[in-house]
Amino acid sequence: MNTAPLWASEAFWKKTAVWVTAVSFVLLIALTFDSMARVSAGGSERVPAYSVINKKIDYRLDSKLNRFVPVIEGDAPLFGKTLNEDEAERLVTLGKKTFQAKNCINCHTILGNGAYYAPDLTKAWLDPNWVDETNRETLMLAFLQDPAGNARSYGTGRRMPNLGITEEEARGLIAFLKWTATIDTNGFPHNFKTLYAQENP
Ligand code: HEC
Repeated sequence: MNTAPLWASEAFWKKTAVWVTAVSFVLLIALTFDSMARVSAGGSERVPAYSVINKKIDYRLDSKLNRFVPVIEGDAPLFGKTLNEDEAERLVTLGKKTFQAKNCINCHTILGNGAYYAPDLTKAWLDPNWVDETNRETLMLAFLQDPAGNARSYGTGRRMPNLGITEEEARGLIAFLKWTATIDTNGFPHNFKTLYAQENP
């Protein structure tokens, strides 16, 4: 007579393995779709739609959360031109593709990926070194197309090389960096400063 309990039978564990694998598989697919929706532009309040590049971007300290949170209010169209959602997506996508093609993360970090040779670019749009709102776009355009001629060393002695970026690509990159600056990254990179820092407590 077979007295082995159910859990000691091979058939039981085979069935369990099949079920656990099948359920995990379905769960992972569901979670993947959920994450994709949350991280896509406009998919959640943390990742704004691309047309956010028409807005003024600032950060303020939320004392309850004890971190800086985005404040997106008022119009500040990039290069003075308000873009609709499609136009904004095209420009940001051009920037993202240029970012990938030129391998900016060989030196920089963005949204947690990349290297630490050069400054983190996630909030580069807000960097106080762009002096003020009126100069920022012109300075960024000039810097990206000719970093050596517009050196902005932070005393590290490191220099960004000329990567042969066209004016159109530079505009795309700036749109891309303005968009990444709007993403609520839970206060990362740590201690980033903003152009309007004086408004922050
Ligand atoms: C070989 C390394 C290297 C690569 C590749 C590189 N950079 Fe840089 N970048 C630097 C260094 C170093 C600095 C800071 C020194 C300086 O100001 O000249 C810098 C500074 C910057 C700044 C100013 C940062 C700030 O917060 O003010 C921006 C914007 C920037 N880079 C964008 C880019 C983009 C976009 C790409 C890709 C198209 C890129 N970089 C590729 C090395 C690099």
